[in-house]
Amino acid sequence: MQSNEVILSVNNLVKDFPLGQSAKSNVMRAVNDVSFELKKGEALAIVGESGSGKSTGARILTRIYDETSGNISFKGVPLNTYIEQNGALEYARQVQMIFQDPFGSLNPVHTIYHHIARPLLIHKRAAKEAVPQLVYDLLELVGLSPVKETAEKFPHELSGGQRQRVAIARALAVDPEVILADEPISMLDVSVRLGILNLMADLKDKHGISFMYITHDIATARYFAEKTAVMYVGHMVEWGASDNVTQNPQHPYSKLLLSAVPEAGKAGRRELMVKKGDIPLWKPDSVGCPFYMRCPNASEQCQTQMPEPVQIAPEHFARCHNL
Ligand SMILES: Nc1ncnc2c1ncn2[C@@H]1O[C@H](COP(=O)(O)OP(=O)(O)OP(=O)(O)O)[C@@H](O)[C@H]1O
Ligand SMILES: [Mg+2]
Repeated sequence: MQSNEVILSVNNLVKDFPLGQSAKSNVMRAVNDVSFELKKGEALAIVGESGSGKSTGARILTRIYDETSGNISFKGVPLNTYIEQNGALEYARQVQMIFQDPFGSLNPVHTIYHHIARPLLIHKRAAKEAVPQLVYDLLELVGLSPVKETAEKFPHELSGGQRQRVAIARALAVDPEVILADEPISMLDVSVRLGILNLMADLKDKHGISFMYITHDIATARYFAEKTAVMYVGHMVEWGASDNVTQNPQHPYSKLLLSAVPEAGKAGRRELMVKKGDIPLWKPDSVGCPFYMRCPNASEQCQTQMPEPVQIAPEHFARCHNL
């Protein structure tokens, strides 16, 4: 159920964090000039190693953090204006987040019923007497039947995959437009990961929900998301249609990520070899390409000048001086 309606539009997003207690000017740049669009019913995967700024971007979109600079629009309206016109609670309803650790995001003293009924009541989605049936419908939708028995359980009585389904049902309870899924399957048993991805794909395709899917795993990005953005040290280094980015990667960092994906028939995953000190601490006055120190093709220009985006195909861009 994809359409051309742009739900989220992010332009030149920047986020600085202070470094320690020292002078105000001593900051690190966790997100640097990030721009993308998310359309209705579309999934954008954000792929990158630890510390690349993926979660920080999602936290800005849920308003946990303020951006340092840049523009965000929601349904064509600048975010601040949207919130002035419709309220912060309405935006919080429309943009939901699900996390890596489904156990940590559920309250151990409450039943599954409570977890899903609560947002329905807070956001006044239904009259009180209609809530039980809505809770059961949501449990059914996320594949947690028998619904009444599941509703009576506590989080510890469910498996990791079932708990993540509860977290998804809770997000769906408020009828959101967007779900920001921050590594939603990485803590789950391998055997249940595909089920969660397929559930999210159903919500996207049949219910028109847009997803930002944050992951370390470029293989699942391609499986689930129409679009992929590869991030490195807060920068988008390659982005476009997932098929283009994953089948014809142009940036040496994307190539490295793909080389770590296990091939069919070969056991194990090759670890990315990173020397300590090879990943720069990015600051507002840093120059050059962030991948310079790890790049096999780096030239002097790479050390001093940030590459501009190069268009490789209609839906494929990368920032590299060697393209
Ligand atoms: N609240 C904060 N205060 C200071 N620095 C922060 C804060 N949150 C994140 N950072 C820093 O910003 C950078 C990006 O962090 P972020 O959590 O966004 O990375 P990530 O891509 O989500 O990594 P991971 O894959 O490990 O979850 C890191 O260097 C991190 O230390
Ligand atoms: Mg993260």
